[in-house]
Amino acid sequence: MRDRIDLVQGDITELAVDAIVNAANNSLLGGGGVDGAIHGAAGLDLLEECRTLGGCTTGEAKITAGYNLPAKHVIHTVGPVWFGGDNDEDALLASCYRNSMALAAEHRLRTIAFPAISTGVYGFPKERATRIAVREVVVALERHERIERVTFVAFSERDHGVYEGVIATQIN
Ligand code: AR6
Repeated sequence: MRDRIDLVQGDITELAVDAIVNAANNSLLGGGGVDGAIHGAAGLDLLEECRTLGGCTTGEAKITAGYNLPAKHVIHTVGPVWFGGDNDEDALLASCYRNSMALAAEHRLRTIAFPAISTGVYGFPKERATRIAVREVVVALERHERIERVTFVAFSERDHGVYEGVIATQIN
């Protein structure tokens, strides 16, 4: 399992994978953070395709082309806003990872990169989010054997350290 999981620090828009995952909002019409970076790098054709999708419910995922990105596709998922932890945040975040992986498998994608969904503007505590991310990706990789590799993308050095710790304790 460990050889199917990668951890890098940097900008997800630079990765030449089958799909990068976008931490979007319900409108799917762009925003700040990683969403803004992805739309900025992909170009306006991405926004045009997103307009046809009719938004996305929290915890669900939708796929588009990657346009000017080195990635072939973008999987847009909407993480929960953190309201203290008693509002289904954990389950909704888990759904983002599960549904993104299922969509990738359905489209026969082999390499997928995830940012730390919900841990920016949406305020989800980082370590708690990372434990959910790693757990769900491991389960999904076991289920979807044709997915070769998942890359976790940490934006900061500090986040990279959080992932390192969680991966070391959760994966054999
Ligand atoms: N590459 C990788 N990770 C990044 C990048 C990047 N280029 N830029 C930021 N991050 P956020 P959310 C990290 O706020 O919390 C948007 O406006 C960042 O450090 O992008 O799910 C949407 O439209 C953090 O760890 O997403 C929504 O309205 C992680 O990506 C809202 O923000 C997620 O931070 C979604 O909030």
